[in-house]
Amino acid sequence: MDLPTDLRTAVEQELETMSSWQLTKGVASLSDRYRHPPRADGLRFVQSAKDAAAYIAFRLPATYAAVYFALRQVQAQFPDWSPHTLLDVGAGPGTVMWAAAHADLWSDSLEQVTLLEREANMINMGKRLAGYAIHPAVREAKWRSMDITQPWGTPVHDLVVTSYVLGELPLDSRAAFLGQLWEMTNHSLVIIEPGTPRGFEHIREARERLLGLGGKMVAPCPHDRPCPMEHDDWCHFAQRVARSRLHRQTKGGELGYEDEKFSFVGMARLAGRGIRGRIVRHPQVRKGHVRLQLCTPDGLTGMVITRRNRDLYRRARKVEWGDSFEY
Ligand SMILES: C[S@@+](CC[C@H](N)C(=O)[O-])C[C@H]1O[C@@H](n2cnc3c(N)ncnc32)[C@H](O)[C@@H]1O
Repeated sequence: MDLPTDLRTAVEQELETMSSWQLTKGVASLSDRYRHPPRADGLRFVQSAKDAAAYIAFRLPATYAAVYFALRQVQAQFPDWSPHTLLDVGAGPGTVMWAAAHADLWSDSLEQVTLLEREANMINMGKRLAGYAIHPAVREAKWRSMDITQPWGTPVHDLVVTSYVLGELPLDSRAAFLGQLWEMTNHSLVIIEPGTPRGFEHIREARERLLGLGGKMVAPCPHDRPCPMEHDDWCHFAQRVARSRLHRQTKGGELGYEDEKFSFVGMARLAGRGIRGRIVRHPQVRKGHVRLQLCTPDGLTGMVITRRNRDLYRRARKVEWGDSFEY
């Protein structure tokens, strides 16, 4: 997954003003903070202008790819719906609105974007990036500086998203936070977290709570029964993201890409089309057969699809981890 040209240009322009030494140092320290987060919650990971620059260099391409994937799954459930208003809670540099305004998503319908964020340096960075946007709703987005653990006082929005935020909030604020997210949702709510056991635990808890509030499961789950994932396992997906030269230098690796792992949940006020199964592991394509690991309304199930079932086999050879699968 690549960033759209206007966002890529914006990021490059923004980083151009920094020396590569400064940036490499900033990326290394932010990367370390995210990889080895202190155990206490409610901490501020990104505060300075340097942190914000490191974030757009090191995290934004990956979180963009994760958000894009999650939003595509929601879109697939409501092909005749498109949001006019978007609320992004814990917006950072505005990653979510850029993804929502992608040509394959809702660039035609998106009219108004509101972003809630606490850190002035993230807001300033987000505003500067948005100045490069082709989409008017991104350029004219309303940024609101606030602590999102407090009441937001915003009206309802068609689409509400919070991406890589839940795990940063103090534990005792999360239930009220989820309640507020749901209250502000006119149609769909999407929550994205890192694809780690801890990130998935946040998603699993959010899923239960939102179902309890009357939410209809949209994605990734094909059902609204209790999550069948074993407690030593976690439901997550991956998107391949190209690494910039700076990124490769900082990480000291040769690989030109990295796989961003994430967990997510999408809930709506109405039921979507529904799916029969979700592929929760890389499909194993072998000679004459394909092995799929699926989440289904009957729980997790392994499926071996052979050539004998021609139509199913043909489709199974093309599917990828995270896709829905009708069988
Ligand atoms: C990991 S960043 C995610 C940014 C963006 N959503 C993305 O996916 O790229 C988390 C963001 O949440 C913001 N945040 C965390 N706690 C917050 C709070 N209590 N109030 C407002 N913003 C908060 C941070 O400042 C940061 O910008």
